[in-house]
Amino acid sequence: MKVNIIFTADEVSQSKTQGKICVVIDVLRATSVMITALENGAKRIFPFKDIETIQEKCRNLKNVIKCGERNALKIQGFDLGNSPLEFTKEKVFGKDIYMSTTNGTKAIENSIFAEKIIICSFLNVKSAAEKIIEYGKDCTIICAGTNGEFSLDDALCAGLIIKELEKHIDISLSDKLLALVRISESHDNIKDILKGSTHYSRLLALGFEKDMEHIFTLNKYSSVPEYENGYVSIK
Ligand code: MLT
Repeated sequence: MKVNIIFTADEVSQSKTQGKICVVIDVLRATSVMITALENGAKRIFPFKDIETIQEKCRNLKNVIKCGERNALKIQGFDLGNSPLEFTKEKVFGKDIYMSTTNGTKAIENSIFAEKIIICSFLNVKSAAEKIIEYGKDCTIICAGTNGEFSLDDALCAGLIIKELEKHIDISLSDKLLALVRISESHDNIKDILKGSTHYSRLLALGFEKDMEHIFTLNKYSSVPEYENGYVSIK
């Protein structure tokens, strides 16, 4: 199996994704939020790059949740921000969620020409790798990155997926993929590897430490949400 890697949402294009199995990662925090919300019973998550699109779509809808962030903080007038811990069973069970984030929802919207779009974070690495193997085709791992830049948290998650894939199948490792695997082997725990990285440090400075404890729980969940027909859900 051939595995490609893209490091920012901005680099995702039709030619790079068309007909591919794509795995979208935005560990801090969009894909971690999606997986948590769906595990807590949310029905569907509709991701959009633009806040205006969400306002428009939700104008005549009742009982939906609008959520997301700009500069990591809740969007004014929205119901929830982008902290996975906000998405409790009590708040999200049975609900449709409309979400806009700076990088994560952009990465998904830019991937719409892919054959399959798998949503991944540290929370479901093992099951996401199993799903890639089940689909059995070349895959492209899309790291959302942070504001158009490489983000170590997403790259680490990609490295963990590759390690998981390697347990079961042969994949040819480019130097980029090898670097990601080596990063994932550099320390025993995620916190130590990410110490000092840009987005992690920013979220800590904003007081989102508890989010991180949750987000760094490797393989807490076994579901693998996918994006299809305009929304993310657990099939
Ligand atoms: C994003 O999509 O840019 C992130 O999820 C930002 C955040 O941590 O809130």
